[in-house]
Formats: sequence, C-alpha cells, structure tokens
Amino acid sequence: MKRLISLLLVVLMVFSLAACGGNGADDDTGSDADVEDTGDDAEVPAASGDIQKIGISMPTKDLQRWTLDGENLKAELEAEGFEADLQFANNDVGEQVAQIENMLASGADVIVIAAIDGSALTTVLDGAKANGVIVISYDRLIMNSDAVSYYATFDLERVGEMQGQYIADALDLENTDETYNIEIFTGPTDDNNVNFFYGGAMKVLQPYIDDGTLVVPSGQVSLAETATNAWSTEEAQKRMENIISANYGDGTVLDAVLSSNDSVANGVTNAVVNGYPGDNFPIITGQDCETTAVKNIIRGQQSMSVFKDTRELAQAVVDMIVALANGEEPPVNDTETYDNGTGIIPSNLLDPIAVDIDNYEEVLIGSGYYTEDDLK
Ligand code: BGC
Repeated sequence: MKRLISLLLVVLMVFSLAACGGNGADDDTGSDADVEDTGDDAEVPAASGDIQKIGISMPTKDLQRWTLDGENLKAELEAEGFEADLQFANNDVGEQVAQIENMLASGADVIVIAAIDGSALTTVLDGAKANGVIVISYDRLIMNSDAVSYYATFDLERVGEMQGQYIADALDLENTDETYNIEIFTGPTDDNNVNFFYGGAMKVLQPYIDDGTLVVPSGQVSLAETATNAWSTEEAQKRMENIISANYGDGTVLDAVLSSNDSVANGVTNAVVNGYPGDNFPIITGQDCETTAVKNIIRGQQSMSVFKDTRELAQAVVDMIVALANGEEPPVNDTETYDNGTGIIPSNLLDPIAVDIDNYEEVLIGSGYYTEDDLK
C-alpha cells in the first residue's frame, strides 16, 4: 500500500513537473508572447526603448501648416507610445533656443526641429550632442551643426520646379513668340529651403528671362532682391504694391508672379486685388495649400499651390523615431543633396503635388486633408 502511495506520489510529481513543463511550454508561448511583445514593442517602442521623450520645436502658429505639422506629429508619436512635448516659438529665434534648452533639461531623447533661422542653433545643439540627444531636422535643414542626424522634408527643389513649370506651361513659354511680364517673390534668406525653392523655379524660368520671353519690369531678379523676411504676407504685399505703382500704373500687363509659398502669395494677391489696374488677373503660384490660398484658387485669385501633406511628413519622422527606438537604421532615400555645412545629412524626401482648380478637390478633399466646409 505504502509502495502504491509513493508510486502515486511519484506519478503526481511527474505529472505536476510535466504540467510545469507545460508551463514551460507556456513559457514558450510566453516567449511567443515575448515575440508578440517585441511586436508590440515595435508599435510601442516607448514601452521598452531608451527613446521615450520626444521634443517637437515648431517655428510659429501664425501659419496653418506649422500648426498642422506639430499637431499631426504629436498625435502620431503619442499613438506609438512616445511622450511628445510640442512647442511653437512665435517666429522668435531666442524663444526657439530657450524651448530647445528646456527640452534638453527635461530629458528629451530626440528633438525634432523646424528651425526659424537655420543657422542660429549651433550652440544649443552642441548641448544636444553632448547629451546624446538625437536631432532630426524637420522640413527646414539646420545648418552648421554636426548634432543633426537626419532630415525629413519634401523634395524642395521639385517644389520650385513645379511653380516655375506651372508658369511656363500656363503661358506656353516653350512655343510662344510673345513676351510676358513676370515678378518674383521668394522667402527669407535665413531659411535654407529658399535656396531650393528659388533655385528650382529659376532653373525653369531663367532661360526664358535670358532669351527675352520673360521680362521682369521691376528688374528685381536675384534671391536677395526677391526675398521676403519671415515669409511675411504684409512685407510681400508692400513690395508688390510698390512694384505695381512703379511699373504697372501705365497699363503694362502683369502676366505672372512667381511666389514661393502661400503666405507670400496672399500678400501679392492682396496688392493685385487692391491696386493692379489691368483687366487680367496674373498667374500667381504658392506652396502649402493653406486654406486661404485654396479659397483664392477657387475664386480665381491664385493659380496654384504645392501640396506638402503634413500627415505624410509627420509619419516619415515617426518612422525614423520608431526605427531608432528599435535600434534600426531610420528610413532615408537621399544621401547626396543636403549638406548642412558639416557634411551630408541623410534625408527622407517626400513627393510634393502641384494643385490648382482642376485637382484641388481630388487631392485635398479626396485625401481627407480638408473637408468641403474648410474651403468655403
Ligand atoms: C516651408 C514652407 C513654408 C515656409 C513658411 C518653408 O521653410 O518649407 O512650406 O511655406 O517655410 O513657413
């Protein structure tokens, strides 16, 4: 009987060990769970990685695009489990530097920056580098800092080419025997993007200026002469008003205005609406598809804009950060173009889309970027 009981005990022990083994097997399932966890970790890297806190420094709330950029980025980062600190700097370089300093002090692991002045962040970013903080340049390249690891933006030269090409196509410059009058407006010289916007547009337009098909009655053609501080609508409007009264008061026809973005285009449009005496409305280009600009396109007071989907740009940055959190190389598609003075910054370039009256509904409303009501 004793033997039977001990045998039973042994059987029980073996059974419970097997059950433990089963748990062990469950542990394997557990390790499946671990695999799943890793899967989860891929989705929620903040839960396990060294990268948890992300600072987002945007230039200003004045322009709709930066508000959307910032909000999209914050929402998408939080959806991935990161902690996101979003700050807007009021287009004030000192304020942006102070905000970045605060992000560093509060332990940010990555800082995403759309710089106000691309060359004014060298010192504060030395601090980022010293603390092992990863810096991602957002939309605008930060210059002269080796703390910048990655750059996410739209193909900037392509944006300029699209604007120039729109004018060339609309006036059929390739085939015409006529001459047309154009004025040129770009952004501030402290925004590195301006070199590409202006450069891309002039790549298309300069040959026509050189052969006399395009004439610039104001004579203002160089980047310095056509720059607009802080992308200011008011400054663009004043300059356009001056150009109109000095060159177009006598009935000279203004055929086109190359404008590098929408805030500048708005100033140009205001000046044309209020003071251009001609019967035609000139072709006016833009960039960002801000609602004011799209409304102007709908009412025939701006010809086109270039759409840079801020949701896509935010996603590109989130993909970079998720990769970094997983110890992987962030996705980039350009390692040649963007030299910030310390070397080439690996970049992820997205495709811009030219938008005008013919496709704005499909591109902007169809993609859910705006509702019809937004554009009323
Ligand atoms: C951006 C444009 C924007 C402009 C003014 C540029 O750096 O690339 O999209 O219109 O800044 O904020």
